[in-house]
Amino acid sequence: MAFADLRREYSLTGLRRRDLDANPIAQFQKWCDQAAGARASGRVRKFCIRLYKALLLATGAEPLDLTAATPATADKQGRPSARVVLLKGVDERGFVFFTNYESRKGQELAENPQAALVFYWSDQERQVCIAGEVSKLPPEESDAYFQTRPRGSQLEAWASPQSGVIADRATLEANWKAMEGRYAGQEVPRPPFWGGYRLSPTWIEFWQGRPNRLHDRFCYTRQADKRWLIERLSP
Ligand SMILES: Cc1cc2nc3c(=O)[nH]c(=O)nc-3n(C[C@H](O)[C@H](O)[C@H](O)COP(=O)(O)O)c2cc1C
Repeated sequence: MAFADLRREYSLTGLRRRDLDANPIAQFQKWCDQAAGARASGRVRKFCIRLYKALLLATGAEPLDLTAATPATADKQGRPSARVVLLKGVDERGFVFFTNYESRKGQELAENPQAALVFYWSDQERQVCIAGEVSKLPPEESDAYFQTRPRGSQLEAWASPQSGVIADRATLEANWKAMEGRYAGQEVPRPPFWGGYRLSPTWIEFWQGRPNRLHDRFCYTRQADKRWLIERLSP
């Protein structure tokens, strides 16, 4: 397959300054709702989304990995790394995800709390790029989320030294079994090395694909007085 020959024209819709909410978090939630098929805007978009929802209903399918996002972190020397996680919350304070604090991303965030986060919703021809400072969630918030996880995932959090090298899969499964035994008949507590991070944004960009690569891009930059400055960027 020649990757260079794979080409896509972005023509679904546009993004105008007047479409934007003054608050980037509200704008993000609007795009999330639209990506989930839960909210529409514009007649054509409405029609497409209704059709999309009908198809989803008919097939029993849900939009896949709607909340998947790519956080990029960097170590002290500025060497970057990136991977996919699932967003578990967003509000005025920022974007929340959960992971192992001793993983590669955890170690990098301990050295350098600056991170970026990217969402890509291909159905919507949309991208959201976010940057800001990351901090650990208060332990009570991580506890509350951990309690909602399936038991198998809770045990996995104990069993997997995330990002470390392991000998083989059998080792991992044996670790998991050992944890299953250790916590038999009781609630699985949250490991102290596992929990949430919140990225507090100082910069959020909304990207809408357009024909001829003349894409619409708007970025929100946090000002000293906490207000958001909105500017159009060249594609
Ligand atoms: C769709 C998807 C969702 C994922 N969600 C998470 C997540 O929420 N938390 C997590 O720690 N890893 C998640 N992972 C695994 C990460 O991509 C990654 O392998 C892991 O966190 C270790 O990353 P690191 O070694 O860079 O720290 C997910 C992977 C995929 C493909």
